[in-house]
Amino acid sequence: MIAHLFNAPLEDGETAVGVGTVGSSEAIMLAGLAFKRKWQNKMKAQGKPYDKPNIVTGANVQVCWEKFARYFEVELKEVKLTDGYYVMNPEKAVEMVDENTICVAAILGSTLNGEFEDVKKLNDLLIEKNKETGWDTPIHVDAASGGFIAPFIYPELEWDFRLPLVKSINVSGHKYGLVYAGVGWVIWRNKEDLPDELIFHINYLGADQPTFTLNFSKGSSQIIAQYYQLIRLGYEGYKNVMENCQENARVLREGLEKTGRFDIVSKEVGVPLVAFSLKDNSKHDEFEISETLRRFGWIVPAYTMPPDAQHITVLRVVIREDFSRTLAERLVMDIVKVLHELDMLPARVKAKLAMAEEASAAANGSDNASHHKTDREWELEVTEAWKKFVAKKKNKTKGVC
Ligand SMILES: Cc1ncc(COP(=O)(O)O)c(C=O)c1O
Repeated sequence: MIAHLFNAPLEDGETAVGVGTVGSSEAIMLAGLAFKRKWQNKMKAQGKPYDKPNIVTGANVQVCWEKFARYFEVELKEVKLTDGYYVMNPEKAVEMVDENTICVAAILGSTLNGEFEDVKKLNDLLIEKNKETGWDTPIHVDAASGGFIAPFIYPELEWDFRLPLVKSINVSGHKYGLVYAGVGWVIWRNKEDLPDELIFHINYLGADQPTFTLNFSKGSSQIIAQYYQLIRLGYEGYKNVMENCQENARVLREGLEKTGRFDIVSKEVGVPLVAFSLKDNSKHDEFEISETLRRFGWIVPAYTMPPDAQHITVLRVVIREDFSRTLAERLVMDIVKVLHELDMLPARVKAKLAMAEEASAAANGSDNASHHKTDREWELEVTEAWKKFVAKKKNKTKGVC
């Protein structure tokens, strides 16, 4: 079912090639191993060195790609991000490809801002490069989130096995596959893309059982749950759920835009999530918003973007099927309250103290201007400043009452 969803080129009656995993991370390890082994076999056959494999990705890849690279000794070549462009640039990625590149990994739904990378463009550029060089560098699509979104709401978008260089795709069942945690999938384009030597066959359970996973025994509940959801909801059911998520993401995005305080960093086409940054974070930053929102019961993470966009901080809200329109509206209201609260507070105490100290040291001609405080000194000073601030506020409230 999933292979068909991704347009695998299967003949009538032909069985798809893929495995169920614990999640996208395991799926990616397996797909990566298959690429590495295929590349090694090809280099060996050509009598070339095969000890320095690399993989090209964007710097926005999820940590599982770094794990794959380190655990399986493959160099990770990351395309750096730039201001305002937070996914892998396909042109730069193709420039980084060399004879030792086992594959280029594109993401359908970047973890950081939900954006779909341009897999079609990557495919077209790589076809050209392969033609020029005689290499046959393939593509893997990390569709951890997007794999259960794009087929339903962007069916015309070409990102999957319709593109000839896409040889494998992973997807998490526990993200938009609508199953509880612990299930992922990896599908190969066809049998030749998964080297036979990686598949083990056991027969002690009563029949031939091929296995290509990092674990052996595992519960079947998630597989049954995935199967149930697919046949219970069907194409139309998944489509309705995804459309609903998109609609709720729109409500949230528009609510945030209306405040006039945020830049939206996510795209309308992509995973139904809203990633946003403060237009002006000189007084209070996204981390303070995240922290204050916890008091209202929301866990909205704030994080910095990877190189070379690490100066950008974003907050991210992922809209799942159980995040209703009412919740979206309530979150906007709570964010407005948080902004209001922060506006009432002094600007970040540490920054203010630092400025004041530098200024007074400079005025006194003291060499304190170059004295850098220890963390403990900062801690004490910040606590002291907050105490004073709270005490002042208390007095004022009493005065008003
Ligand atoms: C793009 C991407 N790839 C891989 C993963 C890892 O997925 P899993 O948690 O299913 O192992 C994630 C998870 O956030 C992801 O967003």
